[in-house]
Amino acid sequence: MVKVTFIAHDGETTHVEAEPGDTVMSVAIAEGIDGIVAECGGSMMCATCHCYVDDGWADRTGPRMDGEDDMLDSAVCEVTPASRLSCQIRLTEALDGLVVRLPEDQV
Ligand code: FES
Repeated sequence: MVKVTFIAHDGETTHVEAEPGDTVMSVAIAEGIDGIVAECGGSMMCATCHCYVDDGWADRTGPRMDGEDDMLDSAVCEVTPASRLSCQIRLTEALDGLVVRLPEDQV
């Protein structure tokens, strides 16, 4: 299992457990995390799964995928160097303990 912590804009913190191979987005949807909408279902056609990878995890989540920068341009909230589309972060055992923060709005 891979533990993931979601921290909402208001500070509400939710800890979940996921399977390796899941995406951060799919876990958020399955667990009913309010801050992730994922309108396109993970096909990188929206930016409503925007999240901020917490300090110290960016090396392990890796760089943005091809096309991710372009899609993040349509994100509602500020895009920072920590911004990712959560549907493009696939969980591995190396990401056990991952912390992601959620923007105030997605749409
Ligand atoms: Fe649409 Fe991630 S769910 S880009």
